[in-house]
This record gives sequence, structure tokens and C-alpha cells, in this order.
Amino acid sequence: MMQTKIGIIGGSGIYNMDGLEDAAWVAAPSAWGSPSDDMLTGRLDGVEMVFLPRHGRGHVHSPTTVPYRANIDALKRLGVTDIISVSACGSFREEMAPGDFVLVDQFIDRTFAREKSFFGTGCVAHVSVAHPTCARLSEACATAGRDAGITIHTGGTYLAMEGPQFSSMAESKLYRAWGCDVIGMTNMPEAKLAREAEICYASVAMVTDYDSWHPDHGAVDVSDVIKTLQGNGTKAQDLISRLPALVGPERTPCPHGCDRALEYAVMTAPD
Ligand code: ADE
Repeated sequence: MMQTKIGIIGGSGIYNMDGLEDAAWVAAPSAWGSPSDDMLTGRLDGVEMVFLPRHGRGHVHSPTTVPYRANIDALKRLGVTDIISVSACGSFREEMAPGDFVLVDQFIDRTFAREKSFFGTGCVAHVSVAHPTCARLSEACATAGRDAGITIHTGGTYLAMEGPQFSSMAESKLYRAWGCDVIGMTNMPEAKLAREAEICYASVAMVTDYDSWHPDHGAVDVSDVIKTLQGNGTKAQDLISRLPALVGPERTPCPHGCDRALEYAVMTAPD
């Protein structure tokens, strides 16, 4: 029986993970350069866990310079079967208030300065990202979040922007009109790469602000984001600590096929 290994990619404000048994920071190899940082490995409720701070300890990588391919490849090489992305986001919806969590299930990718695929020359593959997150893993996150007493919205479209500046008011209003629910800078190309690596991916987005569309809230600044993140970080740890018991140590095939995404995706003829 295959074993579950849960990878947590922690965003702004989350640089460590509490409560792991046999916790150790390890250097993780990748064929795509160095990952953002070493990875914290250990066990929680009998399930193998790996934690990676997306921006590195000390927050040294901007959303543009995060080595997304190295991160996903290194997690894959460590045997990670399921990735939970935890990240801060702005909200386009009144009801998705600062302090709430959103389980993102769709993306609009407006990033433009990042390497987005493992497949280029040599081997060409086109995976489907029609449903870019794993419904099974997202459901486990929803349960863990509710059990932790977090206000968690299930489903939401995430606008991935390049940054590092926040959006203008006109952009913010445009994304709202497009039907986006939240905005962030890091979930793309991460989610696409996880699919190419055949790893289930769920995105827990923690609302820190109303971006710049809201008439009763001023422009976003980093101090608002940090203030909300401090509360959110503890909530995120609570959600994560409940996940292993819900997911379980024995891995069954993904009912949505995330772990078989390449089956009908490779175009290049074998040698
Ligand atoms: N991360 C947190 N808040 C954000 C916002 N308003 N825009 C982009 N990324 C964010």
C-alpha cells in the first residue's frame, strides 16, 4: 500500500510548523535548481509530513523569484503525494472578510515572469488544469478548517498576479467584474506544476485585506497584511494539525485522477 506524505507550502507569515515528531530540517535535491529553503520533515498522527516555507526563512524570495519548479520537484522526490498550499490573499467579496479562509478551486493566471512547466523542449506534455485543485484534498481541508472553528469558504476563483506591487483600483475592479473572489501572487504556476508532477494540490487562501476596490477600506499595505497574518498563522497551524488524521497514512488513488494527470498528456513519441 502506498503511503501518504503531506507537503505543506507555507506562505507569508508561516515559516515553521509546530508539533512534528522527529522533526528535522533537510536539504532537498532538485533537478531544477535549489528550492526556496531546506524542508522540515517529520510525522503527525502517524502521517509523514514535509513543510517548505515558500519564501524561505527570513522571507528572501519575492513571488516572482520563488523557485516554483525546484520546490515542486523536490517535494515529488521526497515522495510527497498531497500538497496543501497556504497563502495570504486579498478579497474581492464583502463576505470573504479579513481573517476568513477560502478554499480556492479555480485560477486566472495573470503572471508573466515565471517558468510555468516541466515540459518544454525534449518532452512536450499538455496536462489538463480544468479543475486545478484536488476536490478530495480540499474537502479534507474544509473539514479541518471547520473543526478548528475557522470561517472557511469552499470554492473561489483566485487571480494570480505578478506583483510585487499590489493592484491599482482599476485592476481590482476589473478582476471583481471578471468574477474573481480573491487575489494573490504565488499560487501560479505552483498549482499547474503540482498537476504536472501528479501531486494532489489544495489551496487554503487566508484573507488579509480587501485589495483596493472597497470604498470603505483604504489601499492595501504590508502592515495590514502582517497584522491579519499573525492571527491567521495560528489558525492555519490549527487547520494543518487536524489534516493527517483526516487524510490517513494509507494513500488510495485520487478519485479525480490528479495522480494520473500525465496518462494522456504526453505528445512526444517515446524513443
Ligand atoms: N496578498 C495578500 N493580499 C494581497 C493582495 N491584495 N493582492 C495580492 N496579493 C496579496
